[in-house]
Amino acid sequence: MRGQLRTAIFAALACAAPLAAGQADWNGVSHPARARVDYMLKCQGCHQPGGDSKPANTPPLAGEVAKFLSVPGGREFLGRVPGVAMTDLDDVRLAELLNWTIYRFDPGHLPAGFQPYTAQEIGALRRQPLRLDRVQTRDRLIAQMEHPPAK
Ligand code: HEC
Repeated sequence: MRGQLRTAIFAALACAAPLAAGQADWNGVSHPARARVDYMLKCQGCHQPGGDSKPANTPPLAGEVAKFLSVPGGREFLGRVPGVAMTDLDDVRLAELLNWTIYRFDPGHLPAGFQPYTAQEIGALRRQPLRLDRVQTRDRLIAQMEHPPAK
């Protein structure tokens, strides 16, 4: 019953929400309204509605998250952090939600030629979630953003 109600709400939102300018180009997000609701239900408790994560220990997504896509291993990291990998959405919904999160909060750092995550890719990544090694992995990736190797 609760599931049906939710489905009905999603359907209503999906029909009601007009596409914002540019949103039609959001490759890999065929249901932006649903992704937005998924973000509200599953992510914003920690990351905040604007992705600006005020609580201690939760990093901001706004203006930051897409930087990971430009360092080796960063794309995989985004699919493996526990908040992403362990959420109770199926692979299709999660791939859309992660693509949506990236477009919504950090379009400025989207690398040229970005290929959206597919359900298949997310499925493989989330089956190897990062746990205790995630803080070290994150620090290493950020060090690479700040000091890229000489070309
Ligand atoms: C319980 C709090 C919590 C929830 C819920 C949560 N996250 Fe996170 N998120 C974090 C923390 C903390 C990190 C930093 C990495 C780590 O320690 O896991 C993080 C890291 C990330 C990152 C990598 C960016 C970075 O700077 O490390 C992305 C992308 C992300 N979260 C997206 C999401 C999405 C999408 C959802 C919802 C499906 C979500 N998170 C749910 C706490 C949360």
